[in-house]
Amino acid sequence: MPTVVVPPGPPRSLRTTLIYGPGRDPLGFFTDLARTYGDVSYVRTAGERLFLLNHPRLAKDVLVTNQRFFHKGRGLERAKRLLGEGLLTSEEAVHRRQRRLLQPAFHRDRIATYASVMTAFADRIQSRWTDGATIDVAEDMMRLTLGVVGKALFDADVESQARSVGLALTAVLDSFWITMLPFFDALEHLPLPVFRRSRIARAELDAIIYGMIEERRRSPGDRGDLLSMLLMAQDEEAGGAGMSNQQVRDEAMTIFLAGHETTANALSWTWFLLSGAPHVEARLHEEVDRVLGGRSPTLDDLPNLVFMEQVMTESMRLYPPAWIIGRRAIHDYPVDDYVVPARSIVIVSPYLTHHDERFFPEPDRFVPERWTPEFKASLPPFAYFPFGGGARRCIGESFAWMELALAASRIAQRWRFSLVPNHPVVPQPVVTLRLKHGLRVVATKR
Ligand code: HEM
Repeated sequence: MPTVVVPPGPPRSLRTTLIYGPGRDPLGFFTDLARTYGDVSYVRTAGERLFLLNHPRLAKDVLVTNQRFFHKGRGLERAKRLLGEGLLTSEEAVHRRQRRLLQPAFHRDRIATYASVMTAFADRIQSRWTDGATIDVAEDMMRLTLGVVGKALFDADVESQARSVGLALTAVLDSFWITMLPFFDALEHLPLPVFRRSRIARAELDAIIYGMIEERRRSPGDRGDLLSMLLMAQDEEAGGAGMSNQQVRDEAMTIFLAGHETTANALSWTWFLLSGAPHVEARLHEEVDRVLGGRSPTLDDLPNLVFMEQVMTESMRLYPPAWIIGRRAIHDYPVDDYVVPARSIVIVSPYLTHHDERFFPEPDRFVPERWTPEFKASLPPFAYFPFGGGARRCIGESFAWMELALAASRIAQRWRFSLVPNHPVVPQPVVTLRLKHGLRVVATKR
């Protein structure tokens, strides 16, 4: 039986106790914690006991082997305000039921039908660019992935509402990060314009989504989108029961949110990395030209876009969009010589593990070539885990890989980007790992 000893960590001070330790520089904070105190470290901050577990073995234990000890962490507890009991935020029996119901909607065959949506939106975004123009490619990647998930979720019948959906969603998301602040519960009651805007936008968004659900219920049938799947889903284990309107709304909102920002960030970081690595860029261009010969990519091309997959894998190693995965212990949890008391927060971090030289030589270098089949096979489980693991593993992983490869190929066929001199590229680890100041680049036609 492990003895109850607190793992090493920074000395307690009034400052760390009161102020959320990770503060303005969470990447630096957690990197220092792991470097200074080892694979199990501890800090008490802003009313939480926080344990950082920084080893693939420990991550696997939390996410897979011992997942029954945990619920979602503080960020996703808070996200319930927006996402209700959707897949990302629900727990236990509700989550198991919803996962069962949603799984068919994310089956490879069903997802395959969205391939043309992905390339069409990549075309649409490029039609706005002119040779030599300066653009914020991060903003455009967000637009692209929002368009794709909107279309995949609600199909063409929201084309007319697409703009209002987009605007309302953007307003809701703009304030979403604030809910993640340590003292949000107190902040929420302040009469700040950002909360008012967000409440109005959320009501609009709810009205649009409920309107679509009602309309579909009146004339049911499969329109090929995810909303149809949500409405058709029936739980065989519960006598064929379907989802309530509110449950469908929660899932739609969840997919909207989980399904676009992560993918947009992965694309944006990839353009940034390529702009600083001309030899990698040249090799990627050679591959898309050779495999596609100028035509639009399809699903059948993906197995041949081998280097593209390596580039994306390496990009999400360096900048994993879900940079941190938090859990709250619901029981006392033994870790090596320690016990994590119930109610504590446990953090595992794809970002830290992906930059750990025990697993990745020259961890800070962008080397897509490292991803040979042999190297992959040599990695311990959970040394690379951008999509999490266990029962809560990303349900949209295939969707994401498809979108990354198809959209990036379609763009790389025709454009290259060079960073605007002196543009500050700063990671902003909010909910996902964003680019703080966007990514201003000069777009050049190939
Ligand atoms: C590069 C893109 C993406 C990354 C890196 C990513 C990453 C993740 C991670 C790490 C989790 C687990 C979170 C946790 O354990 O707390 C997750 C869950 C989830 N993701 Fe993704 N995701 C991506 C794209 C998508 C897409 C495209 C969709 C939908 C269209 C999606 C929908 C979801 C949902 C619904 C969950 C909750 C699953 C559950 O708890 O059962 N994600 N994602």
